[in-house]
Amino acid sequence: MSRKTRLHQLFIDRFKREPQIFIAPGRINLIGEHTDYNEGFVMPAAIDKHVIFVIAPNGTDQFNIVAADYSESKSFTLTDAVKGDSWENYLMGVASGIRQLGFDVKGVDCVFGSTIPVGAGLSSSAALCCGFGFALSELGGLGISRLGIAKIAQYAEHHFAGVMCGIMDQYASVFGEEDNALLLDCRSLQHETVYANLGDYTIVLTDTKVKHALASTGYNDRRASCETAIRVIATRYPDIKSLRDVPLMMLLAFQDQLGEDVFVKARYVVEQIEITQRAARYLKEENIHEFGKLMFTTHWGLSKSYDVSCAELDYLVELAELSRDFVIGSRMMGGGFGGCTISLMLKEKVDFWKGYVHEKYFATFKKEPDFYLVNLSRGVHQIHT
Ligand code: GLA
Repeated sequence: MSRKTRLHQLFIDRFKREPQIFIAPGRINLIGEHTDYNEGFVMPAAIDKHVIFVIAPNGTDQFNIVAADYSESKSFTLTDAVKGDSWENYLMGVASGIRQLGFDVKGVDCVFGSTIPVGAGLSSSAALCCGFGFALSELGGLGISRLGIAKIAQYAEHHFAGVMCGIMDQYASVFGEEDNALLLDCRSLQHETVYANLGDYTIVLTDTKVKHALASTGYNDRRASCETAIRVIATRYPDIKSLRDVPLMMLLAFQDQLGEDVFVKARYVVEQIEITQRAARYLKEENIHEFGKLMFTTHWGLSKSYDVSCAELDYLVELAELSRDFVIGSRMMGGGFGGCTISLMLKEKVDFWKGYVHEKYFATFKKEPDFYLVNLSRGVHQIHT
């Protein structure tokens, strides 16, 4: 029985009527890390790992939700909505976000399950929020735009989960397209699709199994450092609103005023915004070898300057560097502090990579890594059964 069928059956058994089904994907990011909340560029893609919602309106104010993967059920109304980092807080955040926009959100019965590993940096929470928001909008005939759904999902992260994330994950989960990456300009919130022609190469995600939890890590601190840099620079250049506006030469002129820590982090961001645009040109020209080199460069910037890597991620990238005859690019992906690396490698070497990394990684960290092969997929949508 497929996962969708099982969730469907669970819904019928529990709620005794026919539901509708929606799926929302997780995402990878080819390049452009920690640039989204600085109004820079990112290059994410939705993947074929997703959250499935089996859901129907119930005509009350009550949200009755079953989290099938956790064998948990919760019921709440919007007056119960509270902050926290459990799955129901995200859903409360989404429904509250829709209400904030002035829509009349009605209760639903829902069973959901996911194929996105949690804490692996594949944006399971963005998929959870985007899928739920999209389903509420469709079921209630609210007509919220895709961008609106992404922003509501981001609102839930900010105000209910306490993670001051950018828009990349939510944007990818709603706008993803099969076989394509999205070159997203986080200032205009418009994207260009970039066909990812990788030839003999493929994307491999290697999971450190170090669970990242953005709220309890330095993610918000990094964002605060970037905001500090802007505040200082804006005292002399009031038109400067984000690091997107800051050329490297200007930043260098503020080095002493910013102090070492803020300066180094801001420099990483300014450089990463430029690197991402360059990488996008390479991908469009199908020059994936040059693209891959920029992945390595990005990793060491994230690790040494932005300081969001960890020993396990660095170790995996070092193994990739030692395998340059078949791995042409590799870096940590997402917010950091754990999760996966994303690597571009020869298809025929994937099995070798798995065996090699498993042995070395286990010997070093006494943890088993995991490997995910993903296809670039479509954003949130309804499935008709
Ligand atoms: C997390 C956040 C995103 C983005 C990345 C880093 O995934 O949710 O908004 O900032 O980290 O690029």
